[in-house]
Amino acid sequence: MERIGIVSPNIDITVELLSKSVRRKGHTPVYINPLEFSVHIGREKPSPSYPIDMAIIRDVGGVELGTEGVSFRFERLREMSSDIPVINPPDSILVCANKYLTTSLLLSYGVPVPETLLTQDTNEAIEFIEECGDAVVKPIYGYKGKGILRFRPPVERNLLESILKQRGVLYLQKFVGSGKGDVRVFVVGKEVLGAVRRIPSNNWISNLSQGASPHPFDVDDELVDISLRAKEAVGIEFGGIDIIYDSEGIFVLEVNATPSVRGLYSVGIDPSDKILNLLLDRG
Ligand SMILES: Nc1ncnc2c1ncn2[C@@H]1O[C@H](COP(=O)(O)OP(=O)(O)O)[C@@H](O)[C@H]1O
Ligand SMILES: [Mg+2]
Repeated sequence: MERIGIVSPNIDITVELLSKSVRRKGHTPVYINPLEFSVHIGREKPSPSYPIDMAIIRDVGGVELGTEGVSFRFERLREMSSDIPVINPPDSILVCANKYLTTSLLLSYGVPVPETLLTQDTNEAIEFIEECGDAVVKPIYGYKGKGILRFRPPVERNLLESILKQRGVLYLQKFVGSGKGDVRVFVVGKEVLGAVRRIPSNNWISNLSQGASPHPFDVDDELVDISLRAKEAVGIEFGGIDIIYDSEGIFVLEVNATPSVRGLYSVGIDPSDKILNLLLDRG
């Protein structure tokens, strides 16, 4: 019998399904709240000793709680993963949290990505938006569709300047598709388990946490190939790949290394057993 740590600040449906899977297989789930990490250097050994044999990271706790906290929690998870098997590897979660790094790695693995510009110059950003005709500006460390704005000419220079002032850099991307949704593909190990089409409710942002609704979606060979390559590029063991398409092709927006399974579960697929098997194989 193994003690399986499930790292998450709250017990959501993803944690519940993983816990059920752990119990079904005769193991014991142990919840670990990363917001409770603490370390007294010099008084204890540097790596955290939790009562677990291996762990699944569901959620590290958002950057809205403070950037230093995120960095500290990652360091603790790194230490944990040097002692016991942990999925996803903390370093791959860090790669996926950074949209610039992810996009450039995807490209180097031959995965198609939308035309993207990173700049610290407002004029260059405006030129890009005018060339694209329609573009989004996203935070590099964004998540759940937060902080994404859409720009079309004539560009509001003041707004762009204030975002640049706040972030220090602009991450711009050509707007792809009709604004009627994207596809989240779920990969575990070398397998694509399924996909969900996410249709926005009142705008063009298709995160479920922004009110979009999940619908069944059949994956074809091209989607499987692109998703598996995206997974390899960022070094995750399992994850959700956000894909958008138009008449010119299929493009990967980002890879989620701590994905919720809510959408996938709502279309009848529970990936928990396969995620757990992947971890048990590492043990
Ligand atoms: N280049 C784009 N073209 C069209 N829609 C986009 C683009 N980038 C993001 N979106 C929309 O915004 C959503 C969130 O973007 P994403 O890059 O996945 O960041 P997040 O980490 O916030 O989920 C996407 O699911 C999609 O609906
Ligand atoms: Mg996304």
